[in-house]
Amino acid sequence: MSDGPQLLGKTCMITGASNGIGKAAAHELAKEGAELLLVCRDAQRAQATVEEIKQRSGNPKVEYLLADLSSQADTRRMANEFLASGKPLHILLNNAGAVVQFRSETVDGIETTFALNHLAYFLLTNLLLDRLRESSPARIVNVSSDAHKRAFHGINFDDIEGKKSYGTLKAYGQSKLANILFTKELASRLEGSGVTVNCLHPGFVASRFGHNNGRFMQGVMSFIQVFGRTNEKGSESSVYLCASPEVEHMNGEYIYDCKVTQPTEHALDREAAKRLWQLSAEMTGLADSQPGS
Ligand SMILES: NC(=O)c1ccc[n+]([C@@H]2O[C@H](COP(=O)([O-])OP(=O)(O)OC[C@H]3O[C@@H](n4cnc5c(N)ncnc54)[C@H](OP(=O)(O)O)[C@@H]3O)[C@@H](O)[C@H]2O)c1
Repeated sequence: MSDGPQLLGKTCMITGASNGIGKAAAHELAKEGAELLLVCRDAQRAQATVEEIKQRSGNPKVEYLLADLSSQADTRRMANEFLASGKPLHILLNNAGAVVQFRSETVDGIETTFALNHLAYFLLTNLLLDRLRESSPARIVNVSSDAHKRAFHGINFDDIEGKKSYGTLKAYGQSKLANILFTKELASRLEGSGVTVNCLHPGFVASRFGHNNGRFMQGVMSFIQVFGRTNEKGSESSVYLCASPEVEHMNGEYIYDCKVTQPTEHALDREAAKRLWQLSAEMTGLADSQPGS
């Protein structure tokens, strides 16, 4: 990034920061001087990551918050803990995600890919939105993927949880399309609020993504391990959207390699974005509280 720390005095929450792209982004944002809150699901990995980032960046203001983001109750508990701390929130980087080879359901009885990759972004963001508004200027950054192109027919509202027909890449692609539709709808709701939201494709990255899946995904990932970019390279667009003064006012865009790019036409479908918002609000129990309005 540019000369001198860009984020002194800014508080930044990053989900999925104990590995991969999120951890690499956390390193960079720590170097920029931000106070970091790393949302992780495992205390040992979280503690080790905090120590490593403090040591390598020289920034002592790094802490972790524990949450399994596939659980709505756990996400709410963690968000409430943060809100009770009274800290401001200037940057929220929704990054935690997974690809799930065989259909499974979370503790809430929701298909795991959709729950973790989309509903967790939606729920956490909405729970923290008032604090982001109070702390404005503030930014929300959603890590999506070019895999959204695998949702050939858009969001399948008739079978959004893959109950009738589940495919690993179909479910993953749909969840990453949902990230873009969520970004677009939230951006229009946030217009003029001092809070912006954008999303990105990090490129194909040799992270640990998909490592705990069956043979098919391990095969895909071993290919990416050889030909994929590093976590550091993969985190560049996340860091850019979180920290660069160049994009301070940018809102509702999808970027790749720090440049605005066009997602598929399904990702630009305003009606689908509104319908997904409504459904997500119902599935997270936020429908009655008018989230993000
Ligand atoms: N790798 C790629 O080629 C690629 C391409 C496009 C988009 N992306 C996107 O990039 C983002 C980061 O992926 P990555 O490649 O860095 O993968 P990764 O190395 O597997 O890291 C994923 C992170 O998410 C966390 N996580 C997973 N399930 C969680 C849960 N239930 N609760 C809380 N945290 C959870 C993981 O925690 P643990 O450390 O505990 O496992 C880890 O920190 C994802 O949104 C992914 O869709 C990746």
